[in-house]
Amino acid sequence: MEPHDVERDLSEILYSEQQIRDRIAQICRQIEIDYAGKDLLLVGVLRGAVMVMADLARELKRDIEMDWMAVSSYGNSTESSGVVRIVKDLDTDLAGRNVLIVEDIVDSGLTLSWLKANLESRNPASLEICALLRKPEAEKVHIDAKYVGFDIPNAFVVGYGLDYAERYRNLRAVAVLAPHIYA
Ligand code: PRP
Repeated sequence: MEPHDVERDLSEILYSEQQIRDRIAQICRQIEIDYAGKDLLLVGVLRGAVMVMADLARELKRDIEMDWMAVSSYGNSTESSGVVRIVKDLDTDLAGRNVLIVEDIVDSGLTLSWLKANLESRNPASLEICALLRKPEAEKVHIDAKYVGFDIPNAFVVGYGLDYAERYRNLRAVAVLAPHIYA
């Protein structure tokens, strides 16, 4: 759906579909250079990363593999709990693989901090992070993400995979949710 389909639920459009597409293309050109001659396994973190994974994987002008993990940290609240559990683990053995974690957002950093340590213990050849969005002001743990689409303000954002209570994931843009929705 487009922002105008849920106009009253949004207070600001941060990035349009086209801006997101352009930024993902830039990131893909860099990934192609950085992983030239190497295998590449993209690990998507369900459910928020579905859109960025789909667009990133298709934009890459090279062969890749994809696998998925589901972790849980938020529930339906707007605050990170810091509690992470694996809901669905990977099917792929990471030993010796070049792994790129694909995420929609680094918020507090707690999820990716935990995930990075978890995947590192599986002995990949390399392990890096690609996140479409990052909220520097919300950082509780510093995450060294090699590829970041956009740094955004510490607001509640939805769209392009990001939800509020499972809604708005299918919004094509990234937008700030109007406070009256979650107040
Ligand atoms: C979101 C997002 C990250 C995490 C980031 O997932 O996809 O995994 O929160 O927050 P943090 O940096 O504060 O840990 P969420 O738990 O909302 O699940 P979802 O992907 O299914 O929406």
